[in-house]
Amino acid sequence: MRSPEWDAFTARVRESSDILRVVGAYVSLKQKGNNYWACCPFHNEKTPSFSVSPDKGLFYCFGCHAGGDVFKFISMIENVNYGEAIKLQAERLGIPLPSRKRDAKEIARDQKIADMQKVMAMARDFFHSCLVNTRYGVSGLKYLHGRGINDDTIKNFALGFAPNSFEKLKNAFMKRGISEQLLLDCGLIKRRQDGSGTYDTFRNRVMIPIADEMSRVVAFGGRVMDDALPKYLNSPETMIFNKRKMLFGLDRAKKAIGNEKYAILVEGYMDAISLSSAGVKNVVASLGTAFTVEHARKILRHAPEVCFCYDSDEAGQKATIRALSIIRATGAKVRVLVVPDGKDPDEFIRRHGADAFKELAKNALSVPDFEINYALSHNDIRTMDGKTNVLHAMIPVIAASNTIEKLDLIERLSRVLSIEDGIIKQELSHYRGADAGSYAESSVRKRKLVRSVDDAVMKAGRVVVRVAWDDVGTLAHISSLVPIDEFPVATHCEILKYIMACDEKGEKYDESSAMANLSEEAASELSRILTDDFAGELPRDIYDKCAKVIYLTYLKMLYEEHRIKADELEKQGKSDEALRELDESRQIFDKINRIKETRNG
Ligand code: GTP
Ligand code: MN
Repeated sequence: MRSPEWDAFTARVRESSDILRVVGAYVSLKQKGNNYWACCPFHNEKTPSFSVSPDKGLFYCFGCHAGGDVFKFISMIENVNYGEAIKLQAERLGIPLPSRKRDAKEIARDQKIADMQKVMAMARDFFHSCLVNTRYGVSGLKYLHGRGINDDTIKNFALGFAPNSFEKLKNAFMKRGISEQLLLDCGLIKRRQDGSGTYDTFRNRVMIPIADEMSRVVAFGGRVMDDALPKYLNSPETMIFNKRKMLFGLDRAKKAIGNEKYAILVEGYMDAISLSSAGVKNVVASLGTAFTVEHARKILRHAPEVCFCYDSDEAGQKATIRALSIIRATGAKVRVLVVPDGKDPDEFIRRHGADAFKELAKNALSVPDFEINYALSHNDIRTMDGKTNVLHAMIPVIAASNTIEKLDLIERLSRVLSIEDGIIKQELSHYRGADAGSYAESSVRKRKLVRSVDDAVMKAGRVVVRVAWDDVGTLAHISSLVPIDEFPVATHCEILKYIMACDEKGEKYDESSAMANLSEEAASELSRILTDDFAGELPRDIYDKCAKVIYLTYLKMLYEEHRIKADELEKQGKSDEALRELDESRQIFDKINRIKETRNG
């Protein structure tokens, strides 16, 4: 793109552009000092951290770190690349595009790309023909049919087969006048380690052509037909293939994505092929790489919403959490579909069909719901550390949600974790002040949080443990309220179980036997409990009050569990069971209120 004409053109468009007017067309700016401020259009926020400096001609967001010049702003907000943004702005200003004379290097480069595209298309036809027309392809066909891929799909996606040979493709192509160098450039052949010649990259694999948005083949994925490794072999990056930006299937899906107003993003191209063939057309796949902002931008050109549908195994769910943190900055609407039965969307749709999948997509989770489920299922919220982790994970999610969601989330979190909503709000304000990236890393913050989280439950637990230690008879009382296994503080739970075990075996317990048997964490907590003077009060005297605190905490946890269960069942269309869960939760709710009344009365 660079040429003296282009540079002069860019400079002219820049000079004619008033960054305040450009940005002001999208957000309302307010002057403060030399700069102008607004709520950032690239992430959700309530207080402005997005600034424009007209003197410098730059913008910067202190929240999400988006920043750059006027063209960068246009490229981000319109989801176009930098060069396109310049042209777009020129069009708006009525500045004609420069008539460009391309230099020899540029011409050669364009020619090279055209040649590569031609060879890649030839390779697609070669592999496809091997699969459907030759005896080499028999095993490939058998494999594909075996996983439910029919001949229509094979034709439609131009699936192919790379013969089990080191030279077949190379010889066939060189015979047709394609140079060895061009085949190397395309990644279709590789040079031997010792430098003695070249050989076919793909051998004895089922071949999946990977096309760009204009349906030009830019790469291949090759899958083994058994359990050999690597399972997939992808083309190396070339002049025409950039993995980070590539979305498999976008060329065929973009129309459906526009119509449906959202894209479904899956992990594997086999998932995309499977869904698309079954009639779920608005589907694209990333190529086994982590989700990138470039991926997001590509999708968002066609629709405002992305539905993540990664594999339901741990790796897939973890990748989803990561992807969510990346897409957050783009302001995209996002939902998450967790496939309930089967490892991935391919398996699900083969087992249950397209309608069932569409139903799932309709009921996909909101980001906060998904994040909270994930955080809760990956942490033990009976421990301080677990609570802190959940809160820590949810703060950026809360910060990015709208006002109504925000209130709801704070309320829910405070209930599930049984911590004051004030602590959450305070943490949120710390988060806004800090920069988002360092927040996630900050262990100091986390330690502070551990101390503030749920002091009351901790104190109450200590009293209960102390009383049980002094008089093992009270164990029966506390366990009639709360199953010892569900005791809200994990270290306390461990100590109580130890006391109980000794009691059952008729063994004596004392400090030193406990220290020898408890985990390090529980042992130091016990030391603390046994030396605590409980602010001058006798543990026995405040026992009833403390047991009630523990009981309430337990009930709140139960209540939340039933509510989450009810939500899930409702989403699966199991309304009757959902109602039963809701009923349970309501009864617990009433119980909580009754206990609170007796406490206050
Ligand atoms: P199937 O077993 O064929 O159903 O694969 P899948 O579609 O379930 O894919 P999987 O979830 O195993 O992986 C998702 C994506 O990651 C694939 O589409 C590939 O792009 C990529 N991938 C998986 N395994 C490999 C590998 O061994 N090497 C490379 N380079 N990429 C891989
Ligand atoms: Mn699969």
